[in-house]
Amino acid sequence: MDGQARLRKEAERRFFALLLLPPPFPASSARVSLREDPVLIRHFKGHKDAVTCVAFSPTTRALATSSLDRFLMIWNLKPNTKAFRFVGHLEGVTSVQFSPDGNLLASASQDRTARLWIPCIHGESTPLKGHTSAVRSVNFSYDSQFLATASNDKSVKVWSVYSQRLLFTLFQHTHWVRCAKYSPDGRLIVSCSDDKTVKIWDLRNKTCVDDIIDHEGFANYVDFSPDGTCIACAGSDHAVKIWDIRINKLLQQHRVHRAGVNCTSFHPSGNYLLTASSDSTVKILDLLGGRLLYTLHGHEGPVLSVAFSKGGETFVSGGVDAQVLFWKTNFDAFEYKKVLKNHMRKLHGDEPPHLLDIYPRSPHRHDAKPQSVEIDPSFDVTDMQTLDPPVIDITSPSVLLTKPSIPLVQPSMQQERVIMQQDGMNSQDMQQHSVLSSPRATRTSLEDGSKYIAHTMDEPVGISPVLTNALEHIVEQLDVLTLTVSILEQRLTLTEDKLKECLENQEKLLLSVRD
Ligand SMILES: *[C@@H]1O[C@H](CO)[C@@H](O)[C@H](O)[C@H]1NC(C)=O
Ligand SMILES: *[C@@H]1O[C@H](CO)[C@@H](O)[C@H](O)[C@H]1NC(C)=O
Ligand SMILES: *[C@@H]1O[C@H](CO)[C@@H](O)[C@H](O)[C@H]1NC(C)=O
Repeated sequence: MDGQARLRKEAERRFFALLLLPPPFPASSARVSLREDPVLIRHFKGHKDAVTCVAFSPTTRALATSSLDRFLMIWNLKPNTKAFRFVGHLEGVTSVQFSPDGNLLASASQDRTARLWIPCIHGESTPLKGHTSAVRSVNFSYDSQFLATASNDKSVKVWSVYSQRLLFTLFQHTHWVRCAKYSPDGRLIVSCSDDKTVKIWDLRNKTCVDDIIDHEGFANYVDFSPDGTCIACAGSDHAVKIWDIRINKLLQQHRVHRAGVNCTSFHPSGNYLLTASSDSTVKILDLLGGRLLYTLHGHEGPVLSVAFSKGGETFVSGGVDAQVLFWKTNFDAFEYKKVLKNHMRKLHGDEPPHLLDIYPRSPHRHDAKPQSVEIDPSFDVTDMQTLDPPVIDITSPSVLLTKPSIPLVQPSMQQERVIMQQDGMNSQDMQQHSVLSSPRATRTSLEDGSKYIAHTMDEPVGISPVLTNALEHIVEQLDVLTLTVSILEQRLTLTEDKLKECLENQEKLLLSVRD
């Protein structure tokens, strides 16, 4: 009797002592996982069909996407800003890319054309006609002077951007060409085809200098590594292969996806590779260690495109579910070795299992042998407060402005803009303009700092530029506040989860002490 009471008292004392102790895992680990793992920070909804390609602007905080819904869209990454939808292609758009100088946008379409666009509210575009079947990819050379296109007509074509003319055709593939990319130095082009070959072309003599034949399957996508020594092939046979093109050798092969791989993107450091697959996931490979780091859930259906931003601090993915997901990379801010060490610790052990898989506000998974850190943000988008932006349709010029073209997004750097000749445009390109969803004034800024208010012809608006300026400033401040609050909210939820788990552990401990 006496002994039992004493024991109970002792247990209670220990229980309360436990409550006062720091949590049973290193206090830093929660923060480590928060800071170090990729997080979904926004999604962009607006496309009505599969998103086929995603691309960052190299010079502004904007994103271009293409879709089978026949439209291109430009999304401003600042919250509460308008999105722009470019109308011009007659069939699904398969690929989109900004020129490296940020002045132009190129797109490819199933309507057999590629198009060059000035990304401004005039939406001027010129079709590049020459392919005889669907065009599947566009890629600018590093100096923005040339454009390579790949087509189901079995050819790769190279165009002059300034004259908007076809320069030459690379014709040796015997089936659809899915993708063609310039090497970073602009001397080579790599192309992949359903004929199960990957060809490397030397542009000085325009001949195929290397032929990688893969009997296991064709590649959906090819990409040069940032240093130009390797290519990544996204295989329809579920594999991601890294070839060293100097010695023509297969360096790495990753069989981590459960379905065909549709796209890859190298981190600018060359250390990591994003992969997008029809198995609905995006994965992040560690290329130095040759292994899988992360599996990202969030898409409901095949993921078709993925891209790192120029600095690698964010990335974006697009898929058949018409979603565009915008992620913060996080792990790239850490020293490479530290990322690996933390990753090993998370996979093998001395931390509570909930840190292995990040499924906040959803059931935790406890795989016996996790292959990668799983991230499922379906219930945990940081920026849920940001509504889908209003969309402005852009078809042709009828906006009253004296200046020729006004960028949709203020460039981060001062730069010259190319004013393209419109001689090549036909009446079809000059369709009647319609600002469908925004009858109000569109405020834009020129890179020289002067502010303009563009408005439609039938609806002149007279808002003082000073007032507009002040209002925009206030809106920007509010955006920052909203984002801060939502980040704090996310952290609080994680802390709550951990506290709950901590209490449960202590309860179990108490029970075992009682036994
Ligand atoms: C084209 O140039 C490459 C590299 O300079 C060379 O290896 C190849 O033999 C050349 N091919 C022809 C047909 O001249
Ligand atoms: C074109 O492809 C190369 C090689 O994959 C890539 O480095 C480059 O960034 C692409 N161009 C643009 C404008 O994205
Ligand atoms: C995506 O991958 C699947 C499986 O390999 C393939 O059937 C499909 O054509 C690919 N889609 C694109 C747009 O490349």
